[in-house]
Amino acid sequence: MSTVFVAGATGTLGRLVIASLQRRGATVRALVRPGNTEGRRALGQDVEIVEGDIRDPADRLARALEGSDVIVSAVQGGADVIIDGQANLLSAAERAGVPRLIPSDFSLAIDRLDHGDNDFADLRKKAAESFAGSPVATTSVLCGAFLEVLNQPFYNWVDWRAGTFSYWGDGDQPVDFSTMTDTAEWTAEAALDPATAGRTVRVAGDVLTVKELHQAMERGSGRRLQARRLGGVRELKAEIDRLQADGADPFAWLLLQYTWAMVSGKGKLDPLDNHRYPGVRPTGAEEFFRQAMSPSA
Ligand SMILES: NC(=O)c1ccc[n+]([C@@H]2O[C@H](COP(=O)([O-])OP(=O)(O)OC[C@H]3O[C@@H](n4cnc5c(N)ncnc54)[C@H](OP(=O)(O)O)[C@@H]3O)[C@@H](O)[C@H]2O)c1
Repeated sequence: MSTVFVAGATGTLGRLVIASLQRRGATVRALVRPGNTEGRRALGQDVEIVEGDIRDPADRLARALEGSDVIVSAVQGGADVIIDGQANLLSAAERAGVPRLIPSDFSLAIDRLDHGDNDFADLRKKAAESFAGSPVATTSVLCGAFLEVLNQPFYNWVDWRAGTFSYWGDGDQPVDFSTMTDTAEWTAEAALDPATAGRTVRVAGDVLTVKELHQAMERGSGRRLQARRLGGVRELKAEIDRLQADGADPFAWLLLQYTWAMVSGKGKLDPLDNHRYPGVRPTGAEEFFRQAMSPSA
């Protein structure tokens, strides 16, 4: 059975990927940063722990990687982690003879976005450019927007307290949505399938227009949400430009960059590879909101 090395093992997605890999019988070796005793404990007994950082000297990382069949990276961070750290991880994989790496992409169609459209996507695009020519084959897993994240108040789409659903655009553009749990399942499938080497795996738990998402939220939660149209796609772009020019908190315009990629259609995944993974039965948006908004959740 395959040995999978997981970086970002203590993160939200990393922990779910490990559980999905274990359900499939894989042996998991997890990279845990020094001092993260709580994260280490949460991984349990059945995971082999390697202490380290993806920015460690590549020869040290290579020793930790020896014998692994594939690496899954679910790290999060800035350029030092996503570009430099993952390039270092790839270089260590080359030394250790690990043939495949799934980088920490897990996003909209970053391969269709241009540099400048989305600063976080840019980091991943630059990382991918640095991987070119390596004997280690990469597999990019793209999954659309995480419903768990979209449901957070900071995303400014849904405000359960005020009872509002706010959107940009005409509301008719189809958008890809996935849960983190389903994304972990697809990632485990891709990790254990050598045929994904060098490919992009595009998956989505649900494809809905923004108006359909609004309806799915209402049906799932059993609550009415008043729709508020904030402006068109061009006005959204102007708002992002204005916030950047004003030196606003980057978090504010980064989230709007994701929204722009969704409602403009530029971040749409096409074609989807769901049919390659019939064993993964994803949770749709309505069911997600039924569970997330149930009194027992
Ligand atoms: N599509 C979407 O809507 C969406 C939404 C959210 C996230 N994502 C993507 O999903 C991926 C995972 O995100 P997440 O929310 O699960 O992240 P997270 O919970 O913040 O976890 C990040 C992980 O990376 C580890 N890490 C950070 N720097 C590291 C380093 N230098 N060396 C080794 N490990 C390092 C962290 O370790 P510590 O625990 O020690 O800090 C942690 O395990 C990212 O690519 C993110 O962009 C996508």
